[in-house]
Amino acid sequence: MTNCSLFHDWHPVLESDELPPETVRSIRLLGRDLVLWRSRDRVSAWSDRCPHRSVKLSGGTVKNGLLVCPYHGLQFDETGRCVEVPGCPDWTPPPQLAMSGYAIAVRYGLIWVSLQPDTDTSQIPEFPEWEDSQYRKFLCGKYRVRSSGLRVMENFLDVSHFPFVHDGFLGDRTRPKVEPYEVELSDRGLSLNNVRVWQPDPDGTGVGAKVTYNYHLSQPLVASFEKLSSSGRLTIFFAVCPLDVEDSLGWMWISMNYGEDIPEAELQQFQDTVVRQDIPIVESQQPKQLPLNLSAEVHLPFDRSSIRYRQWLKQRGVTFGVV
Ligand SMILES: [Fe+2]
Repeated sequence: MTNCSLFHDWHPVLESDELPPETVRSIRLLGRDLVLWRSRDRVSAWSDRCPHRSVKLSGGTVKNGLLVCPYHGLQFDETGRCVEVPGCPDWTPPPQLAMSGYAIAVRYGLIWVSLQPDTDTSQIPEFPEWEDSQYRKFLCGKYRVRSSGLRVMENFLDVSHFPFVHDGFLGDRTRPKVEPYEVELSDRGLSLNNVRVWQPDPDGTGVGAKVTYNYHLSQPLVASFEKLSSSGRLTIFFAVCPLDVEDSLGWMWISMNYGEDIPEAELQQFQDTVVRQDIPIVESQQPKQLPLNLSAEVHLPFDRSSIRYRQWLKQRGVTFGVV
C-alpha cells in the first residue's frame, strides 16, 4: 500500500486556523494517525506515536516550543528530537528517541501534508486566483463523505448528474443532454475542456444560462475548474483529503470576479446545498472504493471524463481507495 502514488501527493488535512500556535491536533491521513502541532512559528506532522511507550502524542501539549508526551512528559523539539526526559533529567536522550516527520506546508489557508518526507512544496497544486485581488474568495466545507475520496472526485468531474441530483440548482431535468466535450491527458495531468451545461441558476443569482466548464487536475484528489458565464468567471479549487479508504473530507475555495453584491452567506449556502445533494448519492455507491477495472461498471457516452480519470489513476499507480 505504501507505494500508492497518493502517498507522494500533497493533501489538505486541516484549516490553518484550526491549529493556532502552541497547539496540537490528531488527524487521519491515508489510513494513518498523525499528530500535527505548531510551535510559535512552525508546523510539524509526525506519526502519532511516542517511540517510548507508543501512546498518542496528540493527547499531549505544546509548551515553550516543545511537544510534550502525555504519558511520561518526554519533550520533543521541532526537528523531532527528544530533548528532555523529566524522569531522568541528567540523562542525554539517544538519537533513536526521535520522531521522523512528514512533509508539511501551509498554503491557501490550509495545512498540507505529504507522507513522503521529501516531497517538494512546488508540487502543491496551483491556485492562481489566490493571489489575484480581482477575485473574491471564500472557503466552503469541510465536507465529510463516508466514501473513497476518488469516488468523491469522480462525482465532482461529472456534469451529467446535474439535471437529476441538482435540478433547479446546477441543472434542469428537462434539459439533460450532455454535449460532447474534450478530455486531455498529458504529463501536466487531466483536463476536461469545453464542457457545456444549461443551468437555471449557475451562480446563485437566480438567472438561467448556458455555461462552460474547464477542469484541470494535476494530482488525483485536487481539481479546479473555471465556469464561464455571461456574468463572469467563477472557479472552484476542490481538495479532497483521503482519511481512510472509505472516508474523506473536502474543502472548496470558490473564487468569483463578479457578484460583489451577493452576500457571502448566500453563496456559501448555495454551495452547501449542492454538496448536501451529492453526499447521499456518493455514499450510496457500492463498492465505496472506486473500481479501476473498466468492466466493473457500465460506461455511457458522456462518461469519457470518468473513464479517463480511472485510466489515469491506474497509470499513476493509485492503490488506496480503489478496487
Ligand atoms: Fe453533484
